[in-house]
Amino acid sequence: MKHPHDTPLTVSLRRSYRKWLHFPGLLAVLLFFYGPFSLSNYSSSADIDRVVTRCESITTPAGPPSSYSPSSRVERGSDRYVEGTAPVLIKNARIWTGANNGTEAVYGDILLDKGLVMALGHIPRETLIKVKAANAVIETFDVQGKWVTPGLVDLHSHIGLSSAPELRGAADTNSRKAPILPWLRSIDGLNTHDASYQLAIAGGVTTAQILPGSANNIGGQSFLIKLRTTKERSATSKVIEPPQTLIHHQTSDHLHWRHMKHACGENPSRVYSQTRMDSGWSFRQAYDTARKVKEAQDAFCTRVRNVQKHGWWPWSLGKHIASLGDFPEDLQWESLVDVLRGRVKLSIHCYEAVDLDAIIRLSNEFNFPIASLHHAGETYLVPDLLKKAWGGVPSIALFASNARKKREAYRNSEFAPKVLADEGIPVVMKSDHPVLNSRYLLYEAQQAHYYGLDADLALASVTSTPAKAAGLSHRIGSIAVGYDADIAIWDSHPLSLGATPAQVYIDGIAQIRGPHVLVKPEALQHPPKTPDWEAEARKTIEFEGLPPLRGRKIRWGGWSQDDGATKSAGSGVKFVGVKSVWTTDEEGHVHAMFDEEDNTEGGGHSVVVRDGSVVFCSRDSFYECDDSRVQEVVDLQGGSLAPGLTTFGSPLGLAEIRLEPSTTDGVVKDPLTGSVPGIVGGNDAVIRAVDGLQFEGRNTLLAYRAGVTRAVTAPVADGFLSGLSTTIDTGASSAVERGAIIQEETALHISVSLNLGVSVSTQIATLRRLLHESTLDVWERVRTGVIPLVVNVDSADIMATLLNLKSEYERLSGNILRLTFAGASEAHLLAEEIGKAEVSAVLTSPRPYPGYWEQRRILPGPPLSRHSTLTALLAKNVHVAIGVVDEYNARNARFDIAWAALESNGTISKTQAIRLATTYLNRALGATSVPDLVAYRGGSLFDFESKIVGVVSLQRGIIELF
Ligand SMILES: *[C@@H]1O[C@H](CO)[C@@H](O)[C@H](O)[C@H]1NC(C)=O
Ligand SMILES: *[C@@H]1O[C@H](CO)[C@@H](O)[C@H](O)[C@H]1NC(C)=O
Repeated sequence: MKHPHDTPLTVSLRRSYRKWLHFPGLLAVLLFFYGPFSLSNYSSSADIDRVVTRCESITTPAGPPSSYSPSSRVERGSDRYVEGTAPVLIKNARIWTGANNGTEAVYGDILLDKGLVMALGHIPRETLIKVKAANAVIETFDVQGKWVTPGLVDLHSHIGLSSAPELRGAADTNSRKAPILPWLRSIDGLNTHDASYQLAIAGGVTTAQILPGSANNIGGQSFLIKLRTTKERSATSKVIEPPQTLIHHQTSDHLHWRHMKHACGENPSRVYSQTRMDSGWSFRQAYDTARKVKEAQDAFCTRVRNVQKHGWWPWSLGKHIASLGDFPEDLQWESLVDVLRGRVKLSIHCYEAVDLDAIIRLSNEFNFPIASLHHAGETYLVPDLLKKAWGGVPSIALFASNARKKREAYRNSEFAPKVLADEGIPVVMKSDHPVLNSRYLLYEAQQAHYYGLDADLALASVTSTPAKAAGLSHRIGSIAVGYDADIAIWDSHPLSLGATPAQVYIDGIAQIRGPHVLVKPEALQHPPKTPDWEAEARKTIEFEGLPPLRGRKIRWGGWSQDDGATKSAGSGVKFVGVKSVWTTDEEGHVHAMFDEEDNTEGGGHSVVVRDGSVVFCSRDSFYECDDSRVQEVVDLQGGSLAPGLTTFGSPLGLAEIRLEPSTTDGVVKDPLTGSVPGIVGGNDAVIRAVDGLQFEGRNTLLAYRAGVTRAVTAPVADGFLSGLSTTIDTGASSAVERGAIIQEETALHISVSLNLGVSVSTQIATLRRLLHESTLDVWERVRTGVIPLVVNVDSADIMATLLNLKSEYERLSGNILRLTFAGASEAHLLAEEIGKAEVSAVLTSPRPYPGYWEQRRILPGPPLSRHSTLTALLAKNVHVAIGVVDEYNARNARFDIAWAALESNGTISKTQAIRLATTYLNRALGATSVPDLVAYRGGSLFDFESKIVGVVSLQRGIIELF
């Protein structure tokens, strides 16, 4: 009796079901049925089979059986194998396999064939001969000792849901229909044309979990996809091990894991004007509904089994089973029922101890496991709580340094990965793309490593650990025979700054056509020797995530002001064990005093910093360098002194918790898109950032402690006119402290953008009128070049219009307009013209991302293009500098400039790299240069090996030691 929808598998299933009737318990359920039943079509033998199979299948565990061995795939090849893909032999690789908890590295070759890793290490000749016989070609690459890792797995991504560039027609991350929506599926919104796929692959990412957003407590089901384009070009064909509830009647030897997103805390509260208490009830109500469905199913199936046990004749068995009624189910709740059956890998967005507690209580009330907790800012403060989660401790998926944007992220710590790992809790680093560009997922692991996570766990945190959390560690996240052929080849050790793929394979298919491969220094071929952060990590816990950030101050030279600083006899600090020194001269130019970083024997020099002057200790300066004449001797252990960096582009000094209005200066009123109160001056009002400053914010002090001693900050605006920026010392305590405000009014800032809600032509007309006609003093200063006009602009078309406006203005007025483009994503398209017009460019996203239409034509940099935006602009003599967008990121300025230099393939020197965030930036913004000095122990600002131990502030007459 063949059912019309029978496939060979269902037939064989039915046969085994009959076998099962005779040998209860022997049935292995190979196929999971899904579909509504009703009594009316429930009398044929096929329907009885279905009910029985259904009852059997509800207890089938997800994932491959314990007897599963990846090598069993070798014979068949991958289910994702693309016909015609040539085998690939990668020779002479240093292979980080992921095995033994990430401690295994193998030197040798890798053979990829049939979409799988077929052999690894020393590959026997016979194997190669066999593969050669079966294929026309084997593509062979000698990678000459380069590091190879599994393709990276991004456990938290919205790639394809929120499109890049962001367009209203493809904004599918969040449903706003209700807090509880377990029936939604992210795959239904997966845009296959997102520009981010190729970029993420260029960063070595091969698999990502596509999570619905966090607007809802239960946002819906997520899916794991491979990022490559498929032949079918569909969203579904990207899914790896698609659940049988997504693709029915598929052939598989096991039930595939399902995935789902939950979210606690602020986001659902904000969207639904609810509280944490409402969230708690929403969750409980939803789980209780699912529980009832599950219990009804279990009871029904017990009755079915009882009927079967009764030993009715087969022809009357149907009647008795039919009399039990329908298999109870509900399409809206079936996925949550599967959560209760332990067949769903849950990813829960949850930050604070209060939220973690609620969700772990929920898991114990309803008995379901949590695969991973995401963002999870406070998990490192509550390890014992995490261990109480039902079914085992979840993996914790973190950002490295993205913090403090909202209250629930305020206590995020860069030491969280280390602290959690010390507790034996699995750590995952993730992007939350597009919050962070998934392309730089590895940078998250690098930072986690820098701040104390062991190298093996750091690499595992973006490969094998997320693969395990997603239930896919039997085929991705490691390099082993029978695993998917997802491989990244790196130009340097993957934990070294700026490590970039030379090639990436997904399912054995090379993903980067004609990659532009960088040549990296030998020192970067080894994992960095990171600093010791034990004390800092301990302090972070002791102070509930908010450790004091001030150091010990030594004040020099004759000032009477008393702020608790130790008053020195005017003699400064002697730094010993110094390998390199960069200083700033009177004109503000940066020079290398000496640099012996490449000399392993170097580091024996001493330098005295006294009253802001730097004395290199030699026989001639014996007197000045005598230990008895200095206040303190600090050993830099082969370290470095370099000028303090400047940051620009974020509201540093104006905002503490960006999404908490009561902690920020607020947004200025825009005369073009809104109206400005008359009492402020109406349309003529120009707001000054200096009037809204807040000092000693955590972002500000963290930047200071990371060697970023100055900030140029403009008023926060969402319209055309921002106002006057100010230049401040990030280490100052208040606006009245001497030296706190370096320059009251630095530049005038405006935005010209397609995103302002008023036409670009209107914005340009406004600018033209102000430039020619405004009688305000500010515009007079802009007109005559006393201060620069800094325009936030990304589109090359708008930049071209601004260049025309500049030359028109200069022709008509005879004045020179000092113009700077900030943002400047598409500036490389006009590099020559921008250079000729002597316009400066500040790249606030030095690693660009096509977030908006007006940024879509980015120059992605290696391995996708030879030039980066920076090198393309420098090649045309554009005055270029580097900035940031987010205030949390100000502290990472040194990594940004070092990375940019590494990406230049040796065309940007270290000295020039420092200028990108000092001299060049000051020049672009018209900021006063102040020669501060920063002391790095154990390395320099160019590596992941040094730690900042002191800042010398000339303006404030202080040396602060940390
Ligand atoms: C990996 O680490 C876990 C937890 O520390 C340990 O239980 C396990 O035995 C380790 N596995 C291997 C292969 O070393
Ligand atoms: C980097 O420089 C080397 C030569 O030193 C060259 O072979 C390679 O193609 C360059 N790569 C890029 C991306 O410019």
